[in-house]
Amino acid sequence: MSIDYLALDEELDKEEYLICEYTVKSDLDIETAGKRIAEEESTGTWTRPTTLSEDIFESYGAKVTKAEGNRTRIGYPVIDFSGDIGGIPQILSIVAGNLFGLDSLDGVRLVDVEIPPKILKRYPGPQKGLKGLRQILDRPEKPLVGTIVKPKIGLPPKEFAEYVYEAGKGGLTNSKDDETLVDQDFCPLEERVSAVSEKLDLLEEEDHKMIHAHNISTSAHEILEAADLALENGARQLMLDVLTVGFSGLQALAEDPSIKVPIHVHRAMHAAITKDPEHGISMPVIAKLVRMAGGDALHTGTYGTGKMHADISEELESKEALLGDMHGLKRMMPVASGGLHPGLIPELMGKSGNDVQIQAGGGVAGHPEGVGAGAKALSQSVDASFEGVPLDEFKKDHPELKKALEKWS
Ligand code: 3PG
Repeated sequence: MSIDYLALDEELDKEEYLICEYTVKSDLDIETAGKRIAEEESTGTWTRPTTLSEDIFESYGAKVTKAEGNRTRIGYPVIDFSGDIGGIPQILSIVAGNLFGLDSLDGVRLVDVEIPPKILKRYPGPQKGLKGLRQILDRPEKPLVGTIVKPKIGLPPKEFAEYVYEAGKGGLTNSKDDETLVDQDFCPLEERVSAVSEKLDLLEEEDHKMIHAHNISTSAHEILEAADLALENGARQLMLDVLTVGFSGLQALAEDPSIKVPIHVHRAMHAAITKDPEHGISMPVIAKLVRMAGGDALHTGTYGTGKMHADISEELESKEALLGDMHGLKRMMPVASGGLHPGLIPELMGKSGNDVQIQAGGGVAGHPEGVGAGAKALSQSVDASFEGVPLDEFKKDHPELKKALEKWS
């Protein structure tokens, strides 16, 4: 047997290989480019090591099974991945490691990853997921509808909690801290959680179920301590910025037996990794890793309706990564957030369907009559779209929606 990473058109056993699809931009032909990736990330390096035997290559060498156009598919043997110690960091060091810096490749994008059950079984995944969130909120079919407390930073705990209360009175099921708010002096985590929890209790007494995601994105060694502090003060949901914290931080939180509340996952910083169509890692890959790591809800975009850059086909794939089959892992709740307002909801829901958590910050707090009216207008727009009634029709009996549409149409 000779050592050659090319195994074109060979169907690899999906139980025994973790299979990645990459697009490549390079002067090299695609077969050679795929081979460079396979050797760099498995048994090779820039030259043939004298220590690489045929036996080692046969067991551990990655195989290039497709090389067409600008796409290559590479299978990494399951045995290349660590047992109990290693986890998602080690997976990423292989499938998304040195390859991004190879000088012979001008651009490489990891567009998909298929993780075999032998690896996935080490990950419990979401504890609540989409179904659990719907049960907690007693909302079996309609999209969840929420807000991000605005301004992003600056409100003290009492006013912050008042915002949440008004949003709940307006019919919202969810609210959350913004990604940049954690434990600043003007709104310390402990006081914020306690003030918000009081308001959520009050809403519950008034027969409205609502949860608020408290951002505990901090250094890895402090995450569980921050979670304890939030839970002791009544937190009903926790939130992490998964890419600034790291997948391991999310996993540490999700797999800790004391965490019994759902985890909302924000993706701040993702565009540094996902936005360049010729380089980086696609959002669907990140979505799969978040599902493995145990997130319950994840921001996956607004399908071009909001303020953030969107690649609609990748957003649909991200949705599928959260809702499709993943060897028994619970389904997650996709979150649409960023520049939304009531006028955009019919178009958004045309793409997202009903399994989505729709959120607006400015699109609630910017309503001419304030947060309560903004929350009503957003809920009304979701109700109209759920019932298939055009907003121009629905607004006739819903003055808050009418006002919102006048401002943002
Ligand atoms: C988010 O967390 O997605 C953003 O803060 C959304 O805020 P916006 O609805 O005001 O754009």
